[in-house]
Amino acid sequence: MSHLNGESLNIEDKNIEKLVELFPEVNTDGKIDFEKLKQILGEYVDDSEERYRFVWNGKGEALRLSQTPSMGTLRPANEEGKSKNWDDTENLYIEGDNLEVLKLLQKSYFNKVKMIYIDPPYNTGGDFVYKDNFKDNIQNYKKITGQVDSEGNATTTNREYSGRYHTDWLNMMYPRLRLARNILKDDGVIFISIDDNEVHNLRKICDEVFGEDNFIDVLKWKRKKQPSFLAKHTAKVMEYILVYAKSFEKLEKLSIENLSDATKKVINISNPESTRTFKKGVRVKIGESGVIKAGRYKIRSMEVEYLSDVIYQNGVTINDVEVLSRFSVSQDNIDNFIDEDLLFITVNKGLRRDVTEEEKTSRKSITDLLLSDYGDNQESDNEFKSLFGEKYFDYTKPINLIYNLIKSNFTENEVIMDFFSGSSTTADAVMQINADDGGSRKCISVQLPEDLDAMIETADTETKSKLQKAINFLDSIHKPRNLAEIGKERIRRAGEKIKEELKERYEAASDEERKNMKHPNELDIGFKVFKLDSSNIKEWNPGKYENVQQAIEDALTPYVPGRTEEDVVYEMMLKMGLDLTYPVEEVDVNGKTIYSIGYGFLMICLADKVDIVVAEKMIEIKDENNQQEFRAIFRDEGFSSDTDKTNVKETLRSAGLAEESFITL
Ligand SMILES: C[S@@+](CC[C@H](N)C(=O)[O-])C[C@H]1O[C@@H](n2cnc3c(N)ncnc32)[C@H](O)[C@@H]1O
Repeated sequence: MSHLNGESLNIEDKNIEKLVELFPEVNTDGKIDFEKLKQILGEYVDDSEERYRFVWNGKGEALRLSQTPSMGTLRPANEEGKSKNWDDTENLYIEGDNLEVLKLLQKSYFNKVKMIYIDPPYNTGGDFVYKDNFKDNIQNYKKITGQVDSEGNATTTNREYSGRYHTDWLNMMYPRLRLARNILKDDGVIFISIDDNEVHNLRKICDEVFGEDNFIDVLKWKRKKQPSFLAKHTAKVMEYILVYAKSFEKLEKLSIENLSDATKKVINISNPESTRTFKKGVRVKIGESGVIKAGRYKIRSMEVEYLSDVIYQNGVTINDVEVLSRFSVSQDNIDNFIDEDLLFITVNKGLRRDVTEEEKTSRKSITDLLLSDYGDNQESDNEFKSLFGEKYFDYTKPINLIYNLIKSNFTENEVIMDFFSGSSTTADAVMQINADDGGSRKCISVQLPEDLDAMIETADTETKSKLQKAINFLDSIHKPRNLAEIGKERIRRAGEKIKEELKERYEAASDEERKNMKHPNELDIGFKVFKLDSSNIKEWNPGKYENVQQAIEDALTPYVPGRTEEDVVYEMMLKMGLDLTYPVEEVDVNGKTIYSIGYGFLMICLADKVDIVVAEKMIEIKDENNQQEFRAIFRDEGFSSDTDKTNVKETLRSAGLAEESFITL
């Protein structure tokens, strides 16, 4: 029998285990004999004062912080309207401080994530940089996000004159990167967006965390077309994306792959409008014959205007037409595309072209300069506006940038994660790419539910007015005023749009083409929402009561007041290292609920008076699902007597339950 404790994976223990495996002689009574380790390592030890190293004030504490297990939990918010398609989706949206969330995900996602993209605050002088609290980070989180009263101003921005400007930022990033590395697969990769305020420091801590040998590149991305005329010295237009592998050897080439059915854009939202002549012979994917009426058509964030009617027969146009749009290709290109039968009008009256034979055969590496076809700030603003009508933030990244980073790497059925997800561009890009190539990538987004009212207080005038628009929007849809609500709404809206577009494409496709396409109903546009909170289990919460009344009430309930059995079930899954998207089924036995997780892999019954009937039902569930092994969890006080407990245990043992798989809380 084992007794579960409330901690997330203890990373320190795991590392020490590995060390002892390598050097068994340094293990003395369960502790490390450091002097001996030094002797073994001999000339490789450099402890001179002047050795090369990167230190800052608080680094030691930040390191410890990354190694202390979290005592918190993630509570499911499974009502429709909070999550979307709870029962079917494999995407997660987690609201919370990413340090605690990463700790809580260590067991379930250890070595499981193929690609991480993050876009942390850049430390530009006005950024909010999260300050962790070593003593009780969950309580600290609740203060920062306004969930409990706090004295003083918990939400401050990191100003250059604060004196701890770089230090605060490094202390925030360092523990999070350490935890991120653990969840990357061995052939995984992390992409980190950053600008020149911290690129030098970020590179140094990444060298330390991921290992210099696993450095891949610093990609340069042009974030805006036009430099600012107000620049005092140089006018900057570039940003960086640091790329590190978990293992340089195991990561495959990062290339823009050529999918045989891939198509390319001929318009780009940030170009000025211009006209091109389409001579007859352009393919039309709408149907055999018909007319596209002259007029302006909107396709996602793009617009195409046909200046006269387009007449088509047998799937090709039979008249010349002038077309107005934000073209990214010249008139000569257009002529060639038509001659080579590459250009086509899409089902929703947009424009695209097939890739050329030459493009198909060349597997292009990403180059360190990402200048074209990766979008810019204007494109991302327009994409966001096409969903919300207004711009709320300056930091939104273009879909194309993240889309191509995802595509550069073999991710088809893999887990992708963004733990600074902001307006959810990564989740949007993941759905888009799955719709385009039929893949089944899953996305985990993590976002701090930053309180917009508090953000406004410290914002400058221009930002204030944008944030006010976000607040007005959230009020209009009756949602709480925090950033995570915008992030989730983006996924809802983008998902519907992407599914609608896929539907149109699917309906217009031939049977042959459909074989390589995802059926629109199979596209995962849902997400399960989880929220960071303190543990549901009383004894796992440090220092809990504020008054006697609370303590008395508390003693009457098995869990922290206000928490449900479902909260506890997900906490168990997390702490036992199960995937949070596993199906959870509820089975009733005489008014007692058995939660069967992952088709009987884990069964939990938190009821009182658990008896042999519950045990027999568990065995039935296990047999129905052909599970060889299973685990069972009960409350210690869930049995009326020791005899009942023994009987339940013995019944389960006779069906193959291992001693350590009979778990009590
Ligand atoms: C630069 S933005 C990301 C923008 C995003 N790439 C997009 O396209 O919208 C950084 C985000 O990280 C969030 N953030 C900052 N500290 C965090 C923390 N400790 N945990 C979770 N999210 C955090 C901020 O609220 C902000 O939304």
